[in-house]
Amino acid sequence: MSIQILENAVIDQIAAGEVVERPAHMIKELVENAIDAKATEISVHFEQGGRNVIVKDNGVGIDRAELKLAIARHATSKIQNTDDLWQIATYGFRGEALASIAAVCRLKMISRPLNAEMGAQVEVEFGRLGDVISVGCDFGTTIEIRDLFQNIPARLKFLKSDTAEASQVKNLLKALALANPGVTLRIFYENEMVYFWSAQESAVARTQDVLGEAELFQGEAQIEQMKATAVVASPNRTVGHSRQIWLFVQGRYVQDRGLQAAVVEGFRNFLMHGEYPVAAIYLQCDPEDLDVNVSPTKSQVKFRDSSNAFRVVQRAVRDVMERSPWVKGIVGAGGPSAVPMTSATSEMASASPMPSASQPGVGSLKARPPNYAELIMGDLSAPLAKANAAPLQTPIDATDAAAVRGPQINSQINSQTNSQINRQINPLWSTLEVLGQANLTYIVTQSREGILYIDQHAAHERVMFEKLIASIRSGQIEVQNFLMPPVVEVSEDAAAALMAAKGELAEWGLYIDLLGPSQVVVNGAPALAKSEALPALIEKLANDYVSQGGSHSLENRLADRVATLACHSAIRAGQSLGHEEMKALLEQMDEFPQSSFCPHGRPVYVQQTFRGLERDFGRIV
Ligand SMILES: Nc1ncnc2c1ncn2[C@@H]1O[C@H](COP(=O)(O)OP(=O)(O)OP(=O)(O)O)[C@@H](O)[C@H]1O
Ligand SMILES: [Mg+2]
Repeated sequence: MSIQILENAVIDQIAAGEVVERPAHMIKELVENAIDAKATEISVHFEQGGRNVIVKDNGVGIDRAELKLAIARHATSKIQNTDDLWQIATYGFRGEALASIAAVCRLKMISRPLNAEMGAQVEVEFGRLGDVISVGCDFGTTIEIRDLFQNIPARLKFLKSDTAEASQVKNLLKALALANPGVTLRIFYENEMVYFWSAQESAVARTQDVLGEAELFQGEAQIEQMKATAVVASPNRTVGHSRQIWLFVQGRYVQDRGLQAAVVEGFRNFLMHGEYPVAAIYLQCDPEDLDVNVSPTKSQVKFRDSSNAFRVVQRAVRDVMERSPWVKGIVGAGGPSAVPMTSATSEMASASPMPSASQPGVGSLKARPPNYAELIMGDLSAPLAKANAAPLQTPIDATDAAAVRGPQINSQINSQTNSQINRQINPLWSTLEVLGQANLTYIVTQSREGILYIDQHAAHERVMFEKLIASIRSGQIEVQNFLMPPVVEVSEDAAAALMAAKGELAEWGLYIDLLGPSQVVVNGAPALAKSEALPALIEKLANDYVSQGGSHSLENRLADRVATLACHSAIRAGQSLGHEEMKALLEQMDEFPQSSFCPHGRPVYVQQTFRGLERDFGRIV
């Protein structure tokens, strides 16, 4: 066959195949045009999975003289030259959407700009343009689509069921609503209103409306010109898929595996395996650092520096995680979380069923059993010293098994001391009244709002994890050397894997050597670790190294290994705890806002409100 230039009709259909692969893409283009036209109110009616659609907006409208031009290919009011391609501030820039859509449906466009006395209308039948006529209509633009893909039976066959297509439409409309909080949107499917999102002032408020989440939290981060805002639900609210991670770059809804991974990474150690968060992420950057012209549906973007994009998103999420603001709401805002129960607030204390500072134990933790730290909690001494407003020379107990490694000890003391001075401790958990221990596993406490059951292992695991991470990050991990180093039997493979990771393990305070082909000796370990837990820890680590090899990034491995170490060092379920021990654990939790989840993402507490109890007992209805 000789080479020929294709007919316009064929060119249009090829382009339509790329731009409007399915009804949802078409509706997205129409709504984006309305938003580009500065509409503040948009309504979308759609039927048959989106094959029949009406989009009406109150935007700037199109002049009668330009109505036909709007539908012509490569006709746009949004950019003029190639430089503009790098400064795009609108959704549209190609002048292609309407031309592509008009080629594959019956389209009617009615528009009236603010200065026009009348509106104008043009119809297009599968690419054949009709005449412009005058009509009476509201200000703004209405586009009506009928019989999408009727002229391309092959494409019709590719469509899924109406329900499946409609759910894609709804999804894209949610994304547009999330990206444009200031726009009121009314969405009707088969003549029934399915969504009404009224204009909101903030992304958080709109996210609440669209995702139906009652409580959301906002975090921010900035790296150079890149700024990320994360609006996330607490890790109590998770789903089993990644579809509730909504990513926006310059207000554009994008599919980006890298940024999605950044969100999950931000939630690291708060989610269990297979759990995904609910999150909307808004990333802004210099338009010059971004190429939005990389996919026909504009659902992908390319960053000049994708690693910065990853880091800024991760940090914005982390910003929320590290504050863990959901804890306040849970224990009861305005209750003990907001106002610590000290003598300074005795008025409140007397009005509340919570015990005040007069209760033994609160504010006077000296009564704790001696050697408690060595027995169970590692370096409990630090927060206790704080609670007692003791001088800053925090003692570090050297246990009989431990002799602290060389020059690190002094800096360790200093760093602990400094962190005590600087750390803002917000009394929260420690203001709970300990009622007792249930099933040797749960600490039963009460606040003014209700009863909280705290998983003693999960709680202590998080405390240990955060302490270890902090000391590793500061490079001042306290190491204990063993007079009689424990020897652990592992498989030869495992021993080899551990030896290969020897340097990495030493970085977080675990010093091992090979004794025989399948014997590993532990010369030193982090002082926070319980020595009797070391054999199980080494075995777990060996298994991890054998199964994961070097596939994990160092940062991820560190968090995983430290989580393992924390798990093996923490008090266990089934261990009896005294009243003071339980209170001391709550004190420690206050040092780490992240205490509401264990490092493996399990929740640390479950609560039962008094209101709920009253309902259950029929005291209120
Ligand atoms: N709802 C609307 N209100 C006002 N003007 C509109 C509307 N829809 C389209 N237009 C005008 O028609 C032009 C063509 O729209 P079209 O969607 O085809 O291209 P675009 O938005 O410029 O670029 P893209 O192909 O990337 O979407 C727009 O540039 C705009 O001037
Ligand atoms: Mg457009």
